[in-house]
Amino acid sequence: MSPRPLIAGNWKMNGLGLDLDEARAIGAAVEQGTFGARVALCPPATLVDRMAQTLMGLPVSVGGQDCSPKAAGAYTGDVSAAMLAEAGARLVILGHSERRAGHGETDALVAAKVLAAISAGLEPIVCVGESLEQRQAGEALSVVASQLAGSIPSSIGDAAFAVAYEPVWAIGTGLTPSLAEIEAVHIALRSGLVQAFGDAGQRVPILYGGSVKAANAAEILAIPEVGGALVGGAALKASDFMPIIAAA
Ligand code: PGA
Repeated sequence: MSPRPLIAGNWKMNGLGLDLDEARAIGAAVEQGTFGARVALCPPATLVDRMAQTLMGLPVSVGGQDCSPKAAGAYTGDVSAAMLAEAGARLVILGHSERRAGHGETDALVAAKVLAAISAGLEPIVCVGESLEQRQAGEALSVVASQLAGSIPSSIGDAAFAVAYEPVWAIGTGLTPSLAEIEAVHIALRSGLVQAFGDAGQRVPILYGGSVKAANAAEILAIPEVGGALVGGAALKASDFMPIIAAA
């Protein structure tokens, strides 16, 4: 049986205390409706604790957007996985392309973060995705396969994690790959997961991310091997996010 789809909102560097009203509205709407999906919101680190309090008792989990590969120490500005977990996070986005590109994160660093997250009891959402140049050069499948292999250590055992396919050129641009292109990448990722993790690789949710919105969510979520969505801009407001949750 395939797991429930996961719809995760990535607030990126958006959100002050007042925006918890939107999280509260999302939590209340998910509580009231009957939805097939698991739902998570990943606010900036400063809001994890308050959002977890806000959503206490409601069926929406809170996640971080990054964590340090280190457990503790002299790492000014970094936040450890245990700190996120203590603040109320249950998941953490790792290897987002904005961190790979803007902060020089390599597959090896992402893999170390995955291990740190799992040892703190967090469920990592590991992002992979090709650039526009790589897609145009016909390298999309090989790029994501190598990111997948390099970013998820085989030593994670049976810990829960998810993968998110986020083509860099589709993030925040309004552009999305064709449904067939998304399917091809998700099939390639599934086979990489099964190769690495055997049967357990069949159960790992593979989310799609990049300009998911109410208007395209249903058709994207219906693609075989798409097990949810990682949503940026359209996760900031309950009115934009709820139709995506309802489409899963
Ligand atoms: P977007 O962002 O939905 O705004 O394109 C997705 C993401 O970066 O996770």
